[in-house]
Amino acid sequence: MVLNEEIITAIDIGTGKIFGLSGIMKDTGLEVIATDVQTLPEDIIKKGQIADSEEVSNSIFSTLQSLKKNVGERIEWVTIGIGGGHLKGSLISKRISIEPQGREIGETDFQMLKREIKNAVIAANGTGRKVLYSVPQEYRIDDLSGIKKEPVGMHGNTLEMKVHIITVDINQLHNITDCVKNAGAQIENVYPHSWAAAEAVLTEEEKKVGCLLIDIGKGTTDIVFFSEGSIIMTDSIRVGSGNVDVDLAKGLHTPVAFAEEIKKKHGWCNYPKMISEKEKTLSDTVEIFNLSGKLSRTVRVEEISRIVYERMREIFEDFVKHRVEKPALLHTTGAGVIITGGGAKLKGITDLAESVFELPARASSAKSMFNMDESFQQTEFTTGIGLLMLASKQERKREKPDIIEKAKKLLGKWF
Ligand SMILES: Nc1ncnc2c1ncn2[C@@H]1O[C@H](COP(=O)(O)OP(=O)(O)OP(=O)(O)O)[C@@H](O)[C@H]1O
Ligand SMILES: [Mg+2]
Repeated sequence: MVLNEEIITAIDIGTGKIFGLSGIMKDTGLEVIATDVQTLPEDIIKKGQIADSEEVSNSIFSTLQSLKKNVGERIEWVTIGIGGGHLKGSLISKRISIEPQGREIGETDFQMLKREIKNAVIAANGTGRKVLYSVPQEYRIDDLSGIKKEPVGMHGNTLEMKVHIITVDINQLHNITDCVKNAGAQIENVYPHSWAAAEAVLTEEEKKVGCLLIDIGKGTTDIVFFSEGSIIMTDSIRVGSGNVDVDLAKGLHTPVAFAEEIKKKHGWCNYPKMISEKEKTLSDTVEIFNLSGKLSRTVRVEEISRIVYERMREIFEDFVKHRVEKPALLHTTGAGVIITGGGAKLKGITDLAESVFELPARASSAKSMFNMDESFQQTEFTTGIGLLMLASKQERKREKPDIIEKAKKLLGKWF
């Protein structure tokens, strides 16, 4: 048994599963001490959005109970992720005049600039959204741009700040908070899903030379774009690998669950490349169940792959590529595209990404953690592992405040 204050817990609430894990922070690093995975039935979480809060609370409760068995004590605080289209990242730039002109820039100027940015966010998003994070990109004094640190003490006539703001839908945040609360725990940290995935798979070098990370889940696709070591874009869309299953189910007149199996076994999303290379696999045939559960006919792998390709091309091209706010920067990303999430297991996914983004691509699962079972070294567990890693980093940064202080801080932070 270990003392509760040394333990951190992360829960990834996905469209298809809830993945919880607890770790203990030791001098030697983070050690995993408990894990739990629960597959969620359809319609409990739809495209990352809570559709049945009672069932979600029950599932989180079961996860906490299961983790508790190995942790040895009740789990009070958890780190969770947010994505599913409730998250929106945008670049905002504001400038203020320094009066009298040429005066030394001080802390109050930054406070004023931050207030201007906050007002701009409220004007752009209304009161239904809350700023979850703001990541300063650069400062500009008069004509000098590209300043990375707060230029306190410098002289100038104008001060400009460019910041990457991540806002979240307040109602969705309330819903998730309530589900966790009803399951008997409190939220300690909330991170964008894509940031967690980035923490789990990217190296510092990849962030520095630039890369686009895409986490393809069942109902959502989360994106984060790094340039020169900084996050310049965070986004989340409500389309994922589950859409392929529905397309296949409609196109082949078969149940969605069977369509998902067909996708995993026979769906090649690099279909055009396979056609051009006259791949024999495409002429293989697969027996298909009809909606009454009878094996009714056969289809060619070519037909399956065409359907898979069309949806995945749409996700990469129309949703991800077209959303990148600075498309020109895509071509300067030294590390290319990195794909994770369960959807990264689709056959041919790196080929497709390379042809759409015209960049090198790789699929990746999380870096390993001490004592973590090998079975979690799969792309669908990346986000949960990354959430635990982010939580441990946060924990290292500060002394643990007492529970009341934590609660106050939490309320102040989000609501
Ligand atoms: N071997 C495989 N080949 C192709 N797809 C796969 C494979 N294994 C899992 N998937 C797909 O991955 C998806 C699940 O991914 P993941 O577990 O990352 O989603 P999630 O976290 O539950 O959902 P989300 O993040 O969208 O809310 C499912 O659509 C599943 O069909
Ligand atoms: Mg996910």
